[in-house]
Amino acid sequence: MSFVVTSREGVSPGRPLVPCTFVIFGAAGDLSRRKLLPSLYRLWAQKLLHPQTAVVGVARREWNDDQFREMVAEALTEFIGPEAVQAPEWEGFSRRLFFAGFDLRDTEGYRRLRERSRSLADLELVGKQLVFYLSIPPEVFTTVLENLRAAELTAYERTDFGEWPRIVVEKPFGRDLDSSRALNALLLRSFRESQIYRIDHYLGKESVQNLLVFRFGNTIYESIWNRRYVDHVQITVAEEIGVGTRAATYEQMGALRDIVQNHLIQLLATVAMEPPSAIDAKHVRQEKVKIIESVRPLREEEVAEYFVRAQYTAGTIQGEPVPGYREEPGVAPNSVTETFVAGKLYVDTWRWSGVPFYVRTGKRLPKRITEVAIQFKEPPMLLFRGHNLPQPNVLVMRIQPNEGISLSFAAKAPGVSMELASVEMNFLYEEAFHQDLPDAYETLLLDVIVGDQMLFAHAELHEAAWQVLMPILNAWEETLAPLYRYPAGTWGPEAAEKLLSQDGRRWRRL
Ligand code: BG6
Repeated sequence: MSFVVTSREGVSPGRPLVPCTFVIFGAAGDLSRRKLLPSLYRLWAQKLLHPQTAVVGVARREWNDDQFREMVAEALTEFIGPEAVQAPEWEGFSRRLFFAGFDLRDTEGYRRLRERSRSLADLELVGKQLVFYLSIPPEVFTTVLENLRAAELTAYERTDFGEWPRIVVEKPFGRDLDSSRALNALLLRSFRESQIYRIDHYLGKESVQNLLVFRFGNTIYESIWNRRYVDHVQITVAEEIGVGTRAATYEQMGALRDIVQNHLIQLLATVAMEPPSAIDAKHVRQEKVKIIESVRPLREEEVAEYFVRAQYTAGTIQGEPVPGYREEPGVAPNSVTETFVAGKLYVDTWRWSGVPFYVRTGKRLPKRITEVAIQFKEPPMLLFRGHNLPQPNVLVMRIQPNEGISLSFAAKAPGVSMELASVEMNFLYEEAFHQDLPDAYETLLLDVIVGDQMLFAHAELHEAAWQVLMPILNAWEETLAPLYRYPAGTWGPEAAEKLLSQDGRRWRRL
């Protein structure tokens, strides 16, 4: 069954154009080239940015504006396609690009940045409202924040377009509860919470935003979204890729910090939260914090019973041999960094009491797939026992790829005898809307510019997430739980299967 769009009422960007200068720290880096600059350009090309928008790249290079423009042209060609810089919009966009080359420790550089942005604004070339995007390693966060402050670049201002300047912070949000609190305190020395945008690109994905719409824009699901009908929930964030060139960073993080602390917890919060009293930043973020605070804390001694960690060994993915994690360039030969995590969490609220949330994530798994599956209970009376009764209903929200939603249910298989089969209703985003989905960064960068924090994490959410993870991190550090191994190209170690089989359940075969 396919779905057609029957109404698109209210579907229009309808957002104000806000003049501002977007300052990217780490402008020559991978994220900037791959995501930030292409997303800003696409927004520009769709006329969603104010004509006085400017982008100032900051990096430790001796480039002038033209050299920076060349770098951006190369990045757009690589990540959008050669048509990007052949389009008429490129000309206008490239004139909005400026460069400030300095070492992030050099205080003089920040002063020059301030003068430059002021003089451009005085010429009315660009908006004087500043957005700082920190696409830099966490070790230099403190230096940059202190230098921005010393150069008076952080002076608070409220304009018709909200509170400025704004700061966008990329992961990681600390590496444990204490460092996360320290980072928040540092940010709050120069900015108010309303000026801080902690980005988690998962929240910008259309299919993740659709979780909110699916749950709270429809009537029929809410009444079954609870412990009475739901047997358990499975959240999977599986990746086929290994650590690639990020080994040095990944070695310090592992899958728990890289994916569970942010993307996975956000998915869990979105699925489990109570309906907010309004779809806005304040109410949605409040409900998310509440639900994460309701996750039952584990005791360190019981971590091994609830959470499994593992690391990939050499194996085969799509027929190609791939090395083990410890053989990857930049990884210590005796590394104990986990590349796979599976776990069971309980959310102690009236709605979810007793319903396990099984979560798993890993690198070098058989395929790239992210989904949230709501597994419903068996019917109260198994009237069709002995008639090939299929699995109980499953509602799957596919975050990527093939973004969409499917619901499986039992149907009578054609024939003279009463045999049952499982069938699926399937909604595929691209099929229903006949258009490409925007990149998550496009959505999120535009939200920063217009001042909408709904899809950004509040400081309290990160603290609540770290509270959940601290016993696990502590237990692992004290080696209270084994580090399992799994061959690349498999769904993780046997222990991950056991986590569910001991509860009489099993992971979905994806
Ligand atoms: C990042 C992680 O946040 O998300 C990476 O640091 C991971 O390790 C990436 O590969 C996955 O993002 P996506 O959008 O491809 O699912």
